[in-house]
Amino acid sequence: MPLTDFLTELDSLQNDAAISFTAAADTAALEDARIEFLGAKSGRLKAIQKGLGTVGKDDKPAAGKRFNEVKQAIEAAFEQAQQRLAAGGPAKKAGPQFDITLPGKRLRVGRLHPISQTIDELKDIMGRLGFSAADGPEIEDEYHNFNALNIPLEHPARDPLDNFYLSVADSTSGASTGGETLLLRSQTSTVQIRVMETTRPPIRIISLGRVYRPDTADATHYPMFHQMEGLLIDRKVTMADLKSVLRLFATSYLGKDVHVRFRPSFFPFTEPSVEVDMHWNDRWMEFGGAGMVDPNVLRAVGYDPDEVSGFAFGLGVERLCMRRHGVTDIRDFYRNDVRFLEQF
Ligand code: PHE
Repeated sequence: MPLTDFLTELDSLQNDAAISFTAAADTAALEDARIEFLGAKSGRLKAIQKGLGTVGKDDKPAAGKRFNEVKQAIEAAFEQAQQRLAAGGPAKKAGPQFDITLPGKRLRVGRLHPISQTIDELKDIMGRLGFSAADGPEIEDEYHNFNALNIPLEHPARDPLDNFYLSVADSTSGASTGGETLLLRSQTSTVQIRVMETTRPPIRIISLGRVYRPDTADATHYPMFHQMEGLLIDRKVTMADLKSVLRLFATSYLGKDVHVRFRPSFFPFTEPSVEVDMHWNDRWMEFGGAGMVDPNVLRAVGYDPDEVSGFAFGLGVERLCMRRHGVTDIRDFYRNDVRFLEQF
């Protein structure tokens, strides 16, 4: 056998052995590799040793020297693999290793809007107090938004500058129908009427939804916002019941350290009427209006004010959410900036 062939065979043997020993994942695999390369009877090193005898006489010293080098290298590789397995370490992989300290890719998961989350929570709290949720349309007629709520024709609350009146056109001719006037509801008190029209007392409902007023948007105003309306009608209901319910609600939503304060006020559909303030974290803040349902409203829906009485309240949902989370600008809710929305 020519010397060059012999040396080439030695090289590839050394290579194969190194790969097998490094790749051996357990002692059984390593033992298999040992037998393949270093086996005393039929190992590949043994086979090559036989080839040594066929190398030309002059080339023998060089071939022998190289054979010994390769033999030592293979034995050393085997010992190294033995030590590695004894230490329990993983087999070294070729190529670049995965850097587990690199930050991962964060998945962006959608979520409910903070106001939707607030509405869910308010329904939850009021549900535990026995109030079920009712709904009404956002496009209302004047009867439910004003008349039935004891708001007379000349009342400033009906001012076109304070309401979004809709001019309704006939869908076929495009001409004004001249029918009833519609508007985007300016308060959820409309739902009080709609529920009382179709239900007999006792009544215990809340209604959470959008209301619309043509206010210029600033940190505390927005032309659309949400209210939570509450209505309880039964026999012998008093202001004390109203205050208890609002206090229970306030402590459930903001915490035990809330104080509720009533300030005398006026609404056409309640008598007496109050503004509802809450004190929390060293600050008083107004959250809405409330009062005992006016006898005229009870009569408008066919109830007998001598038989039943009740209370109603309307609170600003954005205000509640802002107060609880320290949001200082109502417009943040409607800018659709994920950096804001993501925080809820
Ligand atoms: N509807 C009133 C408002 O929007 C609030 C209110 C509701 C007051 C129920 C009294 C009773 O300002």
